[in-house]
Amino acid sequence: MKLKILNVVGARPNFMKIAPIIKEMRRYPDKIIPLLVHTGQHFDREMSKLFFKDLNLPEPDFYLGVGTGSHAVQTSKIIERFEKILLKVRPDLVLVVGDVNSTIGCALCAVKMHIPVAHVEAGLRSFNRAMPEEINRILTDTIAEYLFITEKSAGANLLKQGVSRDSTYFVGNVMIDTLLSHKEKACNSTILKKLDLKKRNYAVLTLHRPSNVDERQTLINIFDALNDIQKRIKIVWPVHPRSKKMLDKFKFNGAISRMANLKMVPAMGYLDFLKLMTDSKFVLTDSGGIQEETSVLGIPCLTLRENTERPVTVEEGTNIIVGQDRDKITKESLKIMCGKFKKGRRPRLWDGKAAKRIVKILIREGRK
Ligand code: UD1
Repeated sequence: MKLKILNVVGARPNFMKIAPIIKEMRRYPDKIIPLLVHTGQHFDREMSKLFFKDLNLPEPDFYLGVGTGSHAVQTSKIIERFEKILLKVRPDLVLVVGDVNSTIGCALCAVKMHIPVAHVEAGLRSFNRAMPEEINRILTDTIAEYLFITEKSAGANLLKQGVSRDSTYFVGNVMIDTLLSHKEKACNSTILKKLDLKKRNYAVLTLHRPSNVDERQTLINIFDALNDIQKRIKIVWPVHPRSKKMLDKFKFNGAISRMANLKMVPAMGYLDFLKLMTDSKFVLTDSGGIQEETSVLGIPCLTLRENTERPVTVEEGTNIIVGQDRDKITKESLKIMCGKFKKGRRPRLWDGKAAKRIVKILIREGRK
């Protein structure tokens, strides 16, 4: 009996996580039938198609085309459309990754139909329930049967939540599997030349969390800091569609264009962005995955949030939490530019083999 596994992707960070898992599942054609569903939560070329190409992901077997909407609209569309696929495919297992609305939408739909769920990147907690991702994480972990974790803190969080130790598997980080297997390919990216950048002579910025970009005053604080920093070093900012919308809404484009050394560019594909990070002096970000990637690359990372659900990146990696405080952001940036920053080390099991461990466990458990 082969295991029919329905793998789910929806938004940008999911693609990097699912790629090594699908690749590994395809190594066992006699044991696993791996299928892929794309909910269509992200749909732009820059947010979706480019990643399929860069990561060599197979075309999805099912595309749900849910697109944008309020949380209720987007999540309910995911549930409604995913149910039809489940009825048709009748998989043995649904595998979800990360913490986006597609993760909880598909997990919920599956358990209600008595189909077991595996959650990759389980147990992470920011302890800030104002973040939509935190709610998605708590709910998905509550209903999943297999919880694959990336760091020790996640295991402790799950135990506190009452999850049985037997359902939790410390397997490492699939996002790092992807980074390590694409590092060499990313070297050939011409993005530095295209943007007229010199190695270690620029910083990279990413900003898209609702708590940062949907709040006028918070954005002003961050831009004040960026204004200070860009006087000393060029900043490259691949702009997320959410941020683009909010800059238009708050009419900030004029003020930004006066910062001569802050360069806004369209959101980019995986290989270009990996090259951009690898050759940068440091990174300013509010993304989760980038905190992990910079830790492995050894590039200093300043996180523009009050907390992180990935504490190992602070304890062992290169990450520093700076919040939205102008002085703190500027001070830490200056320190890095003077060559003073912590070196960090690679967290345990972030070795490029997480997908192998996951698939091995699924085959073993699926046979029972
Ligand atoms: C989602 C995830 C977040 C993840 C982020 C990565 C949730 C709750 N949030 O946030 O955890 O870090 O993706 O990008 O699932 N848009 C486009 N084109 C696209 C995608 C989005 O124009 O391809 C626009 C939408 O119109 C929307 C905005 O961007 O107004 C936000 O998109 P949405 O999917 O709601 O959430 P993200 O902020 O991207």
